[in-house]
Amino acid sequence: MQSSRRQILVINGKGGCGKTTIATNLAVTYACKRKNVILIDNDPQASSTAWANIRSTKMPPVTTTPRYERLSMYQTQSFQNRLPNETDIVIVDGNSNARGRDLDDILKDTDIILIPMLPSAIDIRASGRFIADLLTHRLYRAAPRPVGVIANRVNTMNKTYNKLMQFLSCLDVPVVAQFNDSTLYTDAAEQGLGVIEMADDSAAPEEAAQWRQLMHWIDQQATSQPSTAANLRLKMRPRAATRKKQSNLADQA
Ligand SMILES: Nc1ncnc2c1ncn2[C@@H]1O[C@H](COP(=O)(O)OP(=O)(O)OP(=O)(O)O)[C@@H](O)[C@H]1O
Ligand SMILES: [Mg+2]
Repeated sequence: MQSSRRQILVINGKGGCGKTTIATNLAVTYACKRKNVILIDNDPQASSTAWANIRSTKMPPVTTTPRYERLSMYQTQSFQNRLPNETDIVIVDGNSNARGRDLDDILKDTDIILIPMLPSAIDIRASGRFIADLLTHRLYRAAPRPVGVIANRVNTMNKTYNKLMQFLSCLDVPVVAQFNDSTLYTDAAEQGLGVIEMADDSAAPEEAAQWRQLMHWIDQQATSQPSTAANLRLKMRPRAATRKKQSNLADQA
């Protein structure tokens, strides 16, 4: 993987929290900045792919790749090697049931993790468990990387909003954006657009400000540390060196 390329994973074990909505909008935001974006659809429901299929070719391009299609059980998952060299940003629309090897494969190359959360008691409980599992995952502990929570579909007049904010204030993970519950998102999705492309809608400026804030946070994280792939390589190197030394000693004995 190119060292300047960054991979952003949008994931939560809870379904319907806005992973596809945020992944597609993030892809559009980068495409509008003239970045080469690949949106990996890791979900068998193929919602990101469906969104990309209705996107006009006149809009800034977002290339979508269905990672959920395993070509054969005998093939190794050298997925990163199949991405075009000129790719700047890889965004993964994570599936809510990613577990085991599937989750390992996604985490391995991820530089930044975004977790959308909805303001409801059920979502808060399930997402809290997911965050705890993620932060204790061995591949995360081997190479900790920036994790940000996104409060999605919020209505500040609703009392569940305060419950979500109270919960989030107790987490070690920062809240990096807050998106309103707005038909702007559903309208944009229906047209294969992102909300920042819905300039005629009166709700757009407020949402666009949140997207700028999210991009700013991502840029800060991306410049402050090496890519995860590089980080994991560094971690694995001493062990490999030790193994080689041990095998040399065994040969000499
Ligand atoms: N901020 C928002 N305002 C209004 N509707 C939203 C917002 N975010 C998402 N939605 C809507 O909520 C529904 C679920 O969103 P989405 O499909 O992005 O969730 P998901 O986490 O990808 O779901 P799944 O787990 O099934 O993949 C969709 O109908 C989407 O249009
Ligand atoms: Mg989805």
